Amino acid sequence: MASFHSTNIRFIELQEKHLNKFKKIHAACLPSAKYSEETYMQFLKGEVFRTHVFVNAEEQILSFIVLMIGIDACEIISIGTIKQYRNQGFASKMLNMCAEIYKPRDMFLEVETTNKIAINFYTDYGFEIINMRKKSNWGENSFLMKKSVENTTSEKDHNIQ
Ligand SMILES: CC(C)(COP(=O)(O)OP(=O)(O)OC[C@H]1O[C@@H](n2cnc3c(N)ncnc32)[C@H](O)[C@@H]1OP(=O)(O)O)[C@@H](O)C(=O)NCCC(=O)NCCS
Repeated sequence: MASFHSTNIRFIELQEKHLNKFKKIHAACLPSAKYSEETYMQFLKGEVFRTHVFVNAEEQILSFIVLMIGIDACEIISIGTIKQYRNQGFASKMLNMCAEIYKPRDMFLEVETTNKIAINFYTDYGFEIINMRKKSNWGENSFLMKKSVENTTSEKDHNIQ
């Protein structure tokens, strides 16, 4: 399996040739987030949303992030890593890279209260729960989380080059 340190893995903006693979991986990682074709097209266009992916030499998407960028804040709309590549630092690295690219002062996100792994991941990265929303867009209770970005990288950068 290619590791994170593999030179064949690239961090790029989502391209049209990846769109079908992206939809499948997004649905597999986040089955409750049912987006329309139009929304996926917006993820691709880069006007409202910015979508970045890690791809390997075979153009397989390993990890993705969808962001909405504001003037000095950004919202993480979704983030995911395919199962066999989880816990290798991909999602943390993506957050670091996005913090470097967009330089937000604050990062926000909403996560279902039952998604313990994601809450653990975000907390580990430095996000804090600032509010709870009953019945989010997906019909579940969710936490609103925030991280103020003082440095461009997290304290836990997994020593990734
Ligand atoms: C949450 C998710 C994106 C994390 O992706 P990842 O690439 O595995 O994350 P990383 O490897 O960068 O993990 C960093 C930290 O998150 C935490 N973490 C990741 N997976 C974990 C698990 N299975 N159990 C507990 N903590 C976990 C750990 O603290 C880890 O740090 P460590 O490696 O030093 O222990 C991934 O589990 C996923 O795709 N889940 C399904 C989609 C989802 O729920 N997305 C979030 C809601 S929008």
